[in-house]
Amino acid sequence: MRIEPAPFFRGRFTLPGDKSISHRAAILGAMAEGTTRVRNYSSAADCASTLACLRGLGVEVRREGTEVAIESGGLEAWRAPAAVLDAENSGSTIRMLAGALAGRPFRSVLTGDESLRRRPVERVAAPLRAMGATVLTTGGRPPLTIEGGRLRGLTYDLPVASAQVKTAVLLAGLQAEGRTTVREPAPSRDHTERMLPAFGVTVQRDGLAATVRGGARLRGTEVAVPGDASSAAFLVVAALVLPESEVRLDGVLLSPTRTAFLDVLRAMGGRVEVRLEATDPEPVGSIVACSSRLRGMAVDPALVPSLIDEVPALAAAAAFAEGAFTVTGAGELRVKESDRIAALAEGLAALGARVRELADGLVVEGGARLRGARVRSHGDHRIAMALSVAALAAEGATEVEGAECVAVSFPDFYALLARARA
Ligand code: S3P
Repeated sequence: MRIEPAPFFRGRFTLPGDKSISHRAAILGAMAEGTTRVRNYSSAADCASTLACLRGLGVEVRREGTEVAIESGGLEAWRAPAAVLDAENSGSTIRMLAGALAGRPFRSVLTGDESLRRRPVERVAAPLRAMGATVLTTGGRPPLTIEGGRLRGLTYDLPVASAQVKTAVLLAGLQAEGRTTVREPAPSRDHTERMLPAFGVTVQRDGLAATVRGGARLRGTEVAVPGDASSAAFLVVAALVLPESEVRLDGVLLSPTRTAFLDVLRAMGGRVEVRLEATDPEPVGSIVACSSRLRGMAVDPALVPSLIDEVPALAAAAAFAEGAFTVTGAGELRVKESDRIAALAEGLAALGARVRELADGLVVEGGARLRGARVRSHGDHRIAMALSVAALAAEGATEVEGAECVAVSFPDFYALLARARA
């Protein structure tokens, strides 16, 4: 993909449905009896991977544009898959489905693409084993073989904040004997906890702990998916770093477990306004962002789980800020779709930014002039988008190698960039 510098970035957009919420709506819909209708289902390839895996388990899934209907007889109706379930690039698919499958009395094998097969799944295997499932990994990575069955409730302290692992344990817990409690070291996205009540399931929440009871029966429901908060981050940063720019995003998910990047951008001097329009089951509203003079800062490591997917966008913003921007406590970035710390350092440095890798984060010294260059996505959608946004505000054209991977979360990304700069 060739990116020419943009004179400005303007427009008003409604984004495709949030990826995290779409995965959960599909999986919970498949676990529920009856019909679940999901409106504004994510256009991300990752969310199509979830639907394909659910079909592989015998669940009926109909998709018409952005609307998905899931027809299921509940978990008891799931069938042993005839083939390996392929989560492709999607960590959420493989980890969350592992939890649901831990209670099913059959054997399933889950795998993914080359990137996913390098990512850790022992973190989800360990608690599911402790609940009584047989879970085999390949040296801690996919393929993952699950032989489910009778489960015992568990109280589990997550060693790292992970909403995927938290969700997996809760989905297994719904099928276990007794109660299952998951406690996390810092708040991670809580979409599962917020969505379960719509399916008729009570979740008890107490600070950083969530508890479900086994033997729950989920009933089909309707889910309206708000616009993707993580996709929004790239557009907000584009508007902040380009001159004479303003972007307005309507109907965006504004969960505080996802919008810490907005707080950071504001603390950096970014002119960002948020209007909350609904709060239940998830906060939703609009975001308006305008050209701003940004300053670097040190991000509080306690906030990292709530902005983990937005570090690439923040690092791109930091390249245009004055002073140093530092993120620490973000070692998880090394095991995302790529090693995001290394990929960001490489790509931003190629554009002329001064970046330093830390074991668990990075430092971007702002103020250097960015010049177009050839950069690599490393097959990682968020690296491709972060470098593309930086390239819009650089001097001269940039070539992003492997940019097609943006389809993993935001297939319309480049079309939207083109509209906003025209
Ligand atoms: C997600 C949780 C996070 C995040 C991922 C989506 C989710 O991963 O990075 O993009 O939907 O639960 P971890 O659970 O590995 O932190």
